[in-house]
Amino acid sequence: MSDDTIPVLAVDGPGGSGKGTICRAVTDATGWHLLDSGAIYRALAVAAAHRAIDESDPDALAEVGRHLDVVFAPAATDDVRVWVDGDDVTRELRSETTGELASRVAAVPAAREALLERQRAFRKAPGLVADGRDMGTVVFPDAPVKVFLTASPEERARRRHKQLKEQGVDVSLASLLDEIAVRDERDRSRAVAPLVPADDAVELDTTGLSVEEVVGRVLKLLQERLS
Ligand code: DC
Repeated sequence: MSDDTIPVLAVDGPGGSGKGTICRAVTDATGWHLLDSGAIYRALAVAAAHRAIDESDPDALAEVGRHLDVVFAPAATDDVRVWVDGDDVTRELRSETTGELASRVAAVPAAREALLERQRAFRKAPGLVADGRDMGTVVFPDAPVKVFLTASPEERARRRHKQLKEQGVDVSLASLLDEIAVRDERDRSRAVAPLVPADDAVELDTTGLSVEEVVGRVLKLLQERLS
């Protein structure tokens, strides 16, 4: 059981809205733990793919989710490595193919249910920065501070392009823009835990803002809400 007196900063938003970068910086500044829930969905996608299981078999997918063997080390750094079933899948996890698969498995209610307690278990003292799509709505609805980050699709595609280029992956900006549109639509329109801001979330458009500016605003909010 997680301790619901421990503060959670829920950071939700679409891919490329800057959540990962912002959450890591806030984690560094606060000393709180980090939950990268997207990485858990990606790990499920990898584990399922290795077993030739997909969203067409929700029961089998949920079973993989319940027994998911995923290890992150070290936590909350830029170069966190990830093992699934004992294999280092760090590169595979970050690929566009895995992102697409993760978005598909994440639309399966039984798979989401299977990962719920695993995510809540990250809530440890002194606090948790939770990065995802449904942190403020489903996983930590009682989080005292909720932020919903957005950015224009063009800006998000540009950021993702830069990130992939740094990793030596060559993809066109136009194809990234298309992929983002497809994934957004699926994440927003799914029946369970769709990508929507919680009623009590503060929405922040990061288009044109620097990382420092966004981090500054989030830290200020945290200070105001927790004091
Ligand atoms: O944030 P990301 O790109 O690593 O997430 C990959 C996919 O996982 C994303 O398309 C939607 C899904 N996801 C989700 O449904 N709920 C979360 N809390 C996090 C990710």
